[in-house]
Amino acid sequence: MIYLDNSATTYPKPQQVINAVTESFSKYGANPGRSGHSFSVKSALKVFEVREKLANMFNAKPENVIFTSGCTEALNLAILGSKIQGGHVIATACDHNSTLRPLYHLKEQGIIELDIVAPKSNDKLRLSDVLPFVKPNTYLICTTHISNVDGMETMINEIGKFCFEHCIMFLVDAAQSAGHKKINIETSHIDFLAIAGHKGLYGPMGVGALILSDKAKLLPIKFGGTGTDSINIIQPSSVPEGFESGTIALPNIIGLGAGIDFVRQNFGKINQKIEDLCTYLNYELNQINGVRVFTHPDNDFGVLSFNVKNLPSTEVSERLDKEFGILTRSGLHCAPLKHLSLGTIEQGTVRASLSAFTKFSHVNSLVKSVKKILRS
Ligand code: ALA
Repeated sequence: MIYLDNSATTYPKPQQVINAVTESFSKYGANPGRSGHSFSVKSALKVFEVREKLANMFNAKPENVIFTSGCTEALNLAILGSKIQGGHVIATACDHNSTLRPLYHLKEQGIIELDIVAPKSNDKLRLSDVLPFVKPNTYLICTTHISNVDGMETMINEIGKFCFEHCIMFLVDAAQSAGHKKINIETSHIDFLAIAGHKGLYGPMGVGALILSDKAKLLPIKFGGTGTDSINIIQPSSVPEGFESGTIALPNIIGLGAGIDFVRQNFGKINQKIEDLCTYLNYELNQINGVRVFTHPDNDFGVLSFNVKNLPSTEVSERLDKEFGILTRSGLHCAPLKHLSLGTIEQGTVRASLSAFTKFSHVNSLVKSVKKILRS
């Protein structure tokens, strides 16, 4: 099996992640932050250690790291928890449904006005694309950092600076970029950074985080026990515990901690390899008559979309799996507006996505198999 679906979730996971998760059941078996006994405190300290690792990685404060079930929950929390009645929000055509759906939900309810920015060029999404949509009541700009469809990068530094200068909150969906790109929430002026634990950070599925700036304003959207202020029947809005009601996924969080260690130890090596393989794959597929590559060569972050003639992407993906053992993702990738702007809403695209464990031979097999599909 050749696994090229790492944007959905990275596979395999590093051995140190598998070991950490396995060990978590015996070593950290108590509910963290609920009981006062020593076993529970030991678990809580472990959670704090991972909070600190995430904070260090993105230059945030540990108390501003909210654990969630994944990037979707982080995005929902940021969008629904910061909503302003009558306010205006800008999102982009590169955004995933986990950003678009909560925003359209607010729009349908008459709570916000919403504009969607489409990139003017096919390489990067820039501040100049966003500027025409800004209004006096714009309070939030949302963008995905790296598109999960074609790897298009949004220039978050210039948009963040603009947001900072105009008192607009800035939300970045880093589902595909965390672990691949260095992100500094302070220098990029990011107020809400949503991350997935199980992609470029190599943790297990079922954990993510919303990381806040000091000035991010947020109200809880989930209510329940926090292990603090239990006499109060009103949900506390103190960060992070006011936003983490319910027992958190400790084994996943511990696995994420080990994934972060793996990335930190190998960051340069992993990402150089992904960039090289992505550039190679892009070039080779582009040489094939009948193949159309949608990913701009400058976006070499390991997410590449292509189509084979006018064959449905689902058919090509299925043949790659059944005939060649190569696993890709086809269709719309839960990002319909991106496909509208690429002109692939009917056909979808075949997406190959890479990780630290992708080999040159894997990428080569994909190229050869695509050629065989074209010949047959
Ligand atoms: N959002 C993930 C993907 O792009 C699941 O495949």
